[in-house]
Amino acid sequence: MIKVKKRKVLLLPGDGIGPEVTTEVKKVINWFNDKKSLDFEIDEDLVGGSSFDKHGTPLTDEVFYKALESAVIMLGAVGGPKWDGVEFSKKPERALLKLRKELKLFANLRPAICFEQLVNASTLKPEIVSGLDILIVRELTGGVYFGEPRGIKPIENGERKGVNTHTYTSSEIIRVARIAFDLARKRSNRVISCEKSNVMEAGQLWKEEVQSLHDKEYKDVELSHMLADNCAMQLVRNPKQFDVILTDNLFGDMLSDEASMLTGSLGLLPSASLGAKNKDGEMRAMYEPIHGSAPDIAGKGVANPIASILSFAMALRYSLDLDKEAEALEKAVQEALNDGLRTKDIMSDKMKEVSTSQMGDAIISKLQ
Ligand code: IPM
Ligand code: MG
Repeated sequence: MIKVKKRKVLLLPGDGIGPEVTTEVKKVINWFNDKKSLDFEIDEDLVGGSSFDKHGTPLTDEVFYKALESAVIMLGAVGGPKWDGVEFSKKPERALLKLRKELKLFANLRPAICFEQLVNASTLKPEIVSGLDILIVRELTGGVYFGEPRGIKPIENGERKGVNTHTYTSSEIIRVARIAFDLARKRSNRVISCEKSNVMEAGQLWKEEVQSLHDKEYKDVELSHMLADNCAMQLVRNPKQFDVILTDNLFGDMLSDEASMLTGSLGLLPSASLGAKNKDGEMRAMYEPIHGSAPDIAGKGVANPIASILSFAMALRYSLDLDKEAEALEKAVQEALNDGLRTKDIMSDKMKEVSTSQMGDAIISKLQ
């Protein structure tokens, strides 16, 4: 196994607005290197459609090996309509899925926090979202995203059949449930586990394994189970009932997009994808904004870099054990918002609209 280099940060800006928001992250990392004498070793390379355009593949072996030896991967975004016609195995998204799977990044943390300054930016009523602080823990390397058999095959009557398989083993469920329980203990100590145990056997297994781990090791944490469709409804009805939501790969994908809108903008939410720690306490991890590549606004300098910058704050906390620095960075974001600075996606009355790089600079100036 290739060794993880403790301070190595690999930037993979990707496609669409990915490069713009990642440029702001790079400025932040350089600031920490210059001003706080931290020794992050930055490297940068292509991923997704931009890699496909140059190399004919969304992830070259070279970049994959760089990823293997990096402690932190900062990903921008991948994909866009430009690559719609590309063969399935070469689609930009395959790079992301391969990185998640091969680096064994099984736990995806997606916090949805509604900043007080942005309570009015949500499409929901302020009293519903004010003070919201949810953490979605999404399983990331199993389920229908990776299950076999899969594919599109011709069948007898001249039709074709599309197949994907939703599978989970006990150990896949238990290792991600453990992460959710551990994180809940540092928060409000409540986990709601979501599946479709009413229609899927894999959902029934999910529910049983989560409950049995709870009963053996996490009795102090309050656990309840919810069907995933009900969870989708409850998220807009009364989102503040949630603390930690634990769920599988596909439901987590959908529920986290939904949760993001409670906070005002998809442009605000960071995420962390974590692997297991090895004997030396080292862990592989990838951090990315949960927004996509937003090709419609790419290259215009209007993208919100906050989700990316907050993703780096998560990297400081989870991969680099730099909690104080993470807090300082999160505080700097708050202060830039307190000054009334807004990118287009969160712009409102009497606020000052700023570009991607102006927002990045403002956050850095607050770090001083
Ligand atoms: C996400 C994205 C990805 C996913 C895509 C880009 C493959 O929607 O990270 O939520 O479906 O997991
Ligand atoms: Mg998604």
